Amino acid sequence: MARNCVASIDLNAIKSNYLYAKSFTPKSSAIAIIKANAYGHGAVKVANHLKECADCFGVACIEEALELRAAGITKTPILLLEGVFEEPELSLVETNKLWMVVCNSVQLDWVLKSKPKKPYTIFLKIDTGMGRLGFHADESVEIINALENSINVGKIILMTHFSSADNQESNFTKNQIEKFNNTIKTNDNAQSLANSAAIMAWKDSHSEFTRPGIMLYGSSPFLFNKQSHDLIPAMTLETSLISIKKFKQGDEIGYGGRYVCKEDTLIGVAAIGYGDGYPRGAKDGTPVYINGGIARLAGRVSMDMVTINLAGIDNPKIGDRVELFGLNVSVDEVANYCDTISYEIFSQITSRVYKTYLS
Ligand SMILES: Cc1ncc(COP(=O)(O)O)c(C=O)c1O
Repeated sequence: MARNCVASIDLNAIKSNYLYAKSFTPKSSAIAIIKANAYGHGAVKVANHLKECADCFGVACIEEALELRAAGITKTPILLLEGVFEEPELSLVETNKLWMVVCNSVQLDWVLKSKPKKPYTIFLKIDTGMGRLGFHADESVEIINALENSINVGKIILMTHFSSADNQESNFTKNQIEKFNNTIKTNDNAQSLANSAAIMAWKDSHSEFTRPGIMLYGSSPFLFNKQSHDLIPAMTLETSLISIKKFKQGDEIGYGGRYVCKEDTLIGVAAIGYGDGYPRGAKDGTPVYINGGIARLAGRVSMDMVTINLAGIDNPKIGDRVELFGLNVSVDEVANYCDTISYEIFSQITSRVYKTYLS
């Protein structure tokens, strides 16, 4: 591990964040969303650490669920958030005791005509405004009836997903909740609405099952007011300085000469780039943390390196640690500089980055 580009992941932080998510709605079961390799944090590690306290895990597809089952996550329920993609997966759903979303008419047909030994647990997805997966509200009542009348179906949970819960200034989430309530009216099946932002900001969406994702990893689920939360960052991405050189006023730094030194400038090179998943879109000025101070990216991100203006950094030396984000630099701030969101930054960290776990 000579290159020393490391993502250290604090599993206890993820557990604290999970318990924090539960504290908003203690009577609910919280489905810990660990799809996409737990947003890049390592699904098996995260699930193993949470398995004693998590009510359920949520993944995107059967491959992700089977990986967890094979790794010994045998007791905790696992929900397939997009359901099955092919009919034969239903037998794996049964043998692995998985829960599944039903979100389209083809999945519905497969479920209704299959012959499971034990009835399935179904999350029926209703599209209340996300405009993506799920049945339109006006067709949902008929589908709920069909599921309720099928011997293949045991527990039914009525579910929807919010498009804008991260924006507390918009009424859209309120409208989605209203549409959901109007659709299901007096139906007494359990419900699942809230993602991280709704858990923290939209009380009316709290129900039997919540679905915290990004908050588990310590990043703010909100568009604005990102600092005001009690979440603990779980991932710290670090590398080291591999070069320090003085440049003259007017010298250009990196590909395309995007950064031009305004004065004589000390430039450091750190061993991380878009080949490690650090976004190429990071702008000049993106913060990094070195020797107790904040320095700023200067020049375009390369595949294996970034260049940093070391002005104001105390006695920088080759080998010094550089934090790209984590406890000292907020991933949300970095995401802003990259015109993206923390979800994308986390899940794009590549396998070249060595992962260490604290627990
Ligand atoms: C259906 C569903 N529920 C919950 C989540 C978790 O959302 P968040 O990470 O914003 O909490 C996701 C994530 O994309 C999702 O697709």
